[in-house]
Amino acid sequence: MPLITVVSAKHAPGATTTALVLAAAADPLTLPIVLEGDADGGDLAARTGTLFDPGMATLVEHARNGGAVEDLGLHAHVLPTGVRLVVGLIDPEQVSGYAADAATLLAPLLRRTGSLAIVDGGRWGSAAAEAWATRSDLVLVAMRPTVDSAEHVAARLPSLRRAASAVRPLAIGDTPLLPADVAVILGCPVSFLPLEPATARAVGEGRIGLAALRATKLFAAAERVLAELSVTGTGLNGPGDDVDRRSARRRLAELSRRLTA
Ligand SMILES: Nc1ncnc2c1ncn2[C@@H]1O[C@H](COP(=O)(O)OP(=O)(O)O)[C@@H](O)[C@H]1O
Ligand SMILES: [Mg+2]
Repeated sequence: MPLITVVSAKHAPGATTTALVLAAAADPLTLPIVLEGDADGGDLAARTGTLFDPGMATLVEHARNGGAVEDLGLHAHVLPTGVRLVVGLIDPEQVSGYAADAATLLAPLLRRTGSLAIVDGGRWGSAAAEAWATRSDLVLVAMRPTVDSAEHVAARLPSLRRAASAVRPLAIGDTPLLPADVAVILGCPVSFLPLEPATARAVGEGRIGLAALRATKLFAAAERVLAELSVTGTGLNGPGDDVDRRSARRRLAELSRRLTA
């Protein structure tokens, strides 16, 4: 099963929430697991009101000691959506004890489990995000659809593409720019999740079960994203990076007229 890392380029667009929503929308047979790999994270234990232990620190220790793949789940909390969550720590000194090695130790273990693993990699530019990206099948770049965010993502695409085998920007919200506009600015396909603040908060706090989440727009959009990225029970075919350059140029001209009107 694929290993997907979600990163952000700027501010807090919703990388952590996106990792949780995508995992919840995945086929339960893929036994989705989310890992808080963000070296500046540690948000999820606090938000979901769970303990920090077990979590990333105990899982990395498990891997260091050559622990069994089958026991990986013992380091996760199970959210009401059914998603297993391995929470990060919050104290920077403790985080530095495992963050640097986490991807190296855990990526091979995760692959052997056969689960769909989604890592919250945090801000692109950190060593932890890069370590996860290089070991992932796909890196999703969460962003808000603004011109400045698009510029930030555009500036980071070359380093992201050098590190990861596939990169897909993911716009959260559709104003002021439509996902198609962001795609024109970035010159590549862009995935989309709607803004749905109450649902996003409930997911981030582990307060919503699968039945209620299934009824939301965010869930339906997350299913579409997984389908478009070909994240299936058997693997990931990889998103294409092709764009129709001629129509992109035409739409870029239209877009700049609209933005300056
Ligand atoms: N799809 C969404 N719709 C509305 N609000 C969202 C969405 N995704 C995230 N958020 C909100 O944005 C804020 C930051 O989200 P978070 O996932 O912590 O971002 P990051 O990990 O990028 O810092 C939170 O208040 C969260 O509820
Ligand atoms: Mg985060």
